[in-house]
Amino acid sequence: MTRKTVRIAMNGVTGRMGYRQHLVRSLLALREAGGLALGDGTVLWPEPVLVGRREHALREIAERHSLEHWSTDLDEVLADDSIDIYFDAQVTAAREEALKKAIAAGKHIYTEKPVATGLSGALELARLAQDAGIRHGVVQDKLFLPGLLKLKRLIDGGFFGRILSVRGEFGYWVFEGDWQPAQRPSWNYRAEDGGGIVSDMFPHWEYVLHELFGPIRSVQALATTHLPRRWDEQGNAYEATADDAAYGIFELEGGIVAQINSSWAVRVGRDELVEFQVDGTEGSAVAGLRNCRVQHRSSTPKPVWNPDLPAAYAFRDQWQEVPDNTEFDNGFKAQWEVFLKHVYADAPYHWDLLAGARGVQLAELGLRSSSEGRRFAVPELRLDGTEATR
Ligand SMILES: NC(=O)c1ccc[n+]([C@@H]2O[C@H](COP(=O)([O-])OP(=O)(O)OC[C@H]3O[C@@H](n4cnc5c(N)ncnc54)[C@H](O)[C@@H]3O)[C@@H](O)[C@H]2O)c1
Repeated sequence: MTRKTVRIAMNGVTGRMGYRQHLVRSLLALREAGGLALGDGTVLWPEPVLVGRREHALREIAERHSLEHWSTDLDEVLADDSIDIYFDAQVTAAREEALKKAIAAGKHIYTEKPVATGLSGALELARLAQDAGIRHGVVQDKLFLPGLLKLKRLIDGGFFGRILSVRGEFGYWVFEGDWQPAQRPSWNYRAEDGGGIVSDMFPHWEYVLHELFGPIRSVQALATTHLPRRWDEQGNAYEATADDAAYGIFELEGGIVAQINSSWAVRVGRDELVEFQVDGTEGSAVAGLRNCRVQHRSSTPKPVWNPDLPAAYAFRDQWQEVPDNTEFDNGFKAQWEVFLKHVYADAPYHWDLLAGARGVQLAELGLRSSSEGRRFAVPELRLDGTEATR
């Protein structure tokens, strides 16, 4: 075995996603497992170079995990030829500019979503990356969730027959921050800082729907701000200018209708924080983060509407749990592995900056749909900027 050290600049590692999901649970977890074997006798050894604005915070993380390299100077890091990959988990508003610099410096790119705050910026990034000939990837972690992997297994196995509809419920109560601290950063609730549930969650719904059920042909959404006042990390009240709930209807190629509610102002009455119910002619499934249950056509009970009598069945008991049949790894780490194999072993990879731009496109059209009260077609994105209506 030959060990190949790959130096990866990681920007935004003091944040929730950068630290926990990408540094600790992905790259450091890969090191704990002995590195990533490429299958040709090479083992990749990720060497994070922490990048950020606050030196003391970076030093503290580096010391906690016995890492040697950190910097507050992005330009200097990007000028370092020993660094192959630039990773970005900064606040959304800071991403586009940093990605542009990294592409110009010839680095391969791996980045959190949304890739930019607007479609034109997102498409430009995809074009620049293609022209520079670099490899690029965008986080699409939900595809690697055990619940959605089981759902994919059902689709691939033909369980549903013809799929009719998808109903998604995502959300939980995010505390306002006055009497209990909020569990999400305050910038998420300020439009001027790149916040908003549409720009945050529609990119996820784009790749989930697209990959599992087919491309999105149209979007109709109603976004709103249920809680207009919140309290920030310092306990100061602020005006929540961004949408904190969105109710969307998406028409997919082939006629499947998907409806997804996203909200940070809803109390959880579900089994999991996100759930998708899929109904097909031959069977139905409800998939969450981890679990997935099914009801086949042959075992579908016949409920009869009669509000005068108590329900005769416990409807939840009429579903059957889909078994794991495998061990599921952390999705963020699993996607890092695929991306690293793409860069260093030429493995196929399609969750790239163009795919990331599709997420931004859906968010942008969703917000327009909401503000104008109209339904919008979602044109197929092309790198040359032309649009084809599907
Ligand atoms: N894939 C997912 O499931 C998922 C989940 C949550 C967030 N995200 C995305 O990850 C990104 C980070 O979200 P988070 O929840 O970790 O946020 P966070 O606020 O916890 O972290 C943001 C990071 O950016 C840095 N930062 C803050 N302000 C900055 C500025 N003005 N300029 C440059 N850097 C700044 C912070 O120091 C921190 O390191 C967002 O783009 C968000 O959309 C993805």
